[in-house]
Amino acid sequence: MTAPVRLLDLQGELGLYRAAALAALERVVDSQVFIMGPEVAAFERELGEYADLPPAVGVSSGTDALLVALMALGIGPGDEVLTSPFTFFATAGAVARLGARPVFVDIDPATFNLTEAGVRAGLTPATRAVIPVHLFGQLCDLGRFVDEAGRPAIIEDAAQALGATLRGRMTGHFGEMSTLSFFPSKNLGGFGDGGAVLTRDEKLRERLSVLRLHGSKPKYFHHFVGGNFRLDALQAAVLRVKLPLLDELSARRQANAARYDALFAGSGLVDRGLVVPPTCLPDAGHVYNQYVIRSPDRDALARALGEAGVETAIYYPRPLHLQPCFGDLGYGPGDFPEAERACAEVLALPVHPLLTEADQARVVGAIAAHHKL
Ligand SMILES: Cc1ncc(COP(=O)(O)O)c(C=O)c1O
Repeated sequence: MTAPVRLLDLQGELGLYRAAALAALERVVDSQVFIMGPEVAAFERELGEYADLPPAVGVSSGTDALLVALMALGIGPGDEVLTSPFTFFATAGAVARLGARPVFVDIDPATFNLTEAGVRAGLTPATRAVIPVHLFGQLCDLGRFVDEAGRPAIIEDAAQALGATLRGRMTGHFGEMSTLSFFPSKNLGGFGDGGAVLTRDEKLRERLSVLRLHGSKPKYFHHFVGGNFRLDALQAAVLRVKLPLLDELSARRQANAARYDALFAGSGLVDRGLVVPPTCLPDAGHVYNQYVIRSPDRDALARALGEAGVETAIYYPRPLHLQPCFGDLGYGPGDFPEAERACAEVLALPVHPLLTEADQARVVGAIAAHHKL
């Protein structure tokens, strides 16, 4: 039996930085400074520098990054927040947790992201914020809307897209705040949960820094009702080791994506409409947290690949407007046809940095064999 082609190879990636990460963990353990402290501050500075922004605000997860960003804007009951129905649950969950209303608008079928026209059409007088999601590692292009005076605040959900560029700029430059996740499968993954918020706005930065400490400054004097949303010092120390490797690992993902594109183009699968490879915008640097194809018989294809020893995943099987917990929002089937079609057709293929040419040939060969090509 040949070894499976894994969707992720975190064990393999660990080999690239294991000794340095263990030394960093040892440094924190020996210092006994686990809460905030120099590792968190240094990571925040280094992450900000990477994105050409002021120091980031480290938080406990990508979910909490969204929550605290919305809290910093004072979002609450009566407010609407416009976002995508085709994303991980946390994007809209954070809005609902604050008593505000997630309002969905449909996605662009090519990029899976929101569009400028869609966002404009979804605005109402109650819209307090827009959360464009940079899905699968490609920045969402909201065009001129980003620079428009008087628009609602923009929070970029960049959980999947650290390192991606659009017209030469990274996330954090397309809105008031950008939220990141360091969940282990993200391009910059920690040894557990972690997240951060990037912002150019000094006032927001100060508010985020305080909100993550129960809204207190100094300690025990509470200006806002915040929470415990701190980034762990152990995570910060590991992320400091991994951040310098991020661009090299993203480049490997990009090379793998280009190789898939070429293999698919030469396979006859694309011409016959059996595989639709992902679209990368011409002025974008896509970092392929996921390489997601469309297939007209996705479920059968996923089964066949599983039998051929190729791991795949479906991000996401059900759009957010059709989740039972959002039933009270009043949406129904057919409201966002592109998001619904994406849920039925998408399949994420392995694209991790340690994937080999032979692995990729096997993946594409198995898809071709399934279609008897
Ligand atoms: C688009 C998106 N938003 C938010 C999150 C939440 O991040 P976390 O898992 O770190 O809470 C994720 C990650 O799973 C994500 O993919």
